[in-house]
Amino acid sequence: MKKDLDTEVYFTPREAAKHLNLSLSAIKNYIYANKLKTLKTPGGHHRISKSELLAAMGEEGSIPVKIEGPFALMEIYCMALVNVFKLLGLPGNSFIIHSKRVSEISYKLSKALGLTDEDIIYAKTAGLVHDIGHMAIDRRILLKSESLTAQEYELMKLHPSKGEELLNSIKELKEIADIVSQHHERIDGAGYPMGLKGKDIKKAARIISIAEAYDSMVSEYSYKKPISKDMAIDELIKCRGSQFDEDVVESFIKIL
Ligand SMILES: [Fe+2]
Repeated sequence: MKKDLDTEVYFTPREAAKHLNLSLSAIKNYIYANKLKTLKTPGGHHRISKSELLAAMGEEGSIPVKIEGPFALMEIYCMALVNVFKLLGLPGNSFIIHSKRVSEISYKLSKALGLTDEDIIYAKTAGLVHDIGHMAIDRRILLKSESLTAQEYELMKLHPSKGEELLNSIKELKEIADIVSQHHERIDGAGYPMGLKGKDIKKAARIISIAEAYDSMVSEYSYKKPISKDMAIDELIKCRGSQFDEDVVESFIKIL
């Protein structure tokens, strides 16, 4: 296999997508995000060398290896869904990057917590599409750089339920719909949309809640500056037992 891959063979984006079992839009997204370097033909078309494809696959958190197994469809559909964020234009890229980081953290965290293989995949895929319900929220609210009004915030809070609705409409994604619907619930019952408490919240949702809060705190957005990793950890510790599951916070600090 190695010998074959060392040869300078070039793929079109469509061939590269087929090779990696990804959608064409996912490959284009990687090219756009500079994760996949290409040569351009005189006609301006992208060509990807096989060695470049392999290098990108080898980078942690970069292009996933070919997906196989009983949950392959779920993962492929979720990756395709994440690309709908591109509809938001340039800000959509930060949604994509955030979704992938939340998915990665949720994967590592659920492994560290000893979840079953099945639940690890659910946490990873639900992490990828946790905010997919944003697509049902008014763009002006979603992309607003100033603070939201109370009314706008109430509309924004609909996104977990909107995400659940969308995922429930796809047979292969029904299993993760309730995880997505619960990612803003809080251990003390003060979260939304249901106000679920403690262990009534699915473990994967408790994991994603921490992954998403941490990544949001350390990331820069048009409406906020990032805070340091140490400050973000302090914040998670401060909210243990109220917003976040204590055991999950503890495990998260260990895997950082
Ligand atoms: Fe969210």
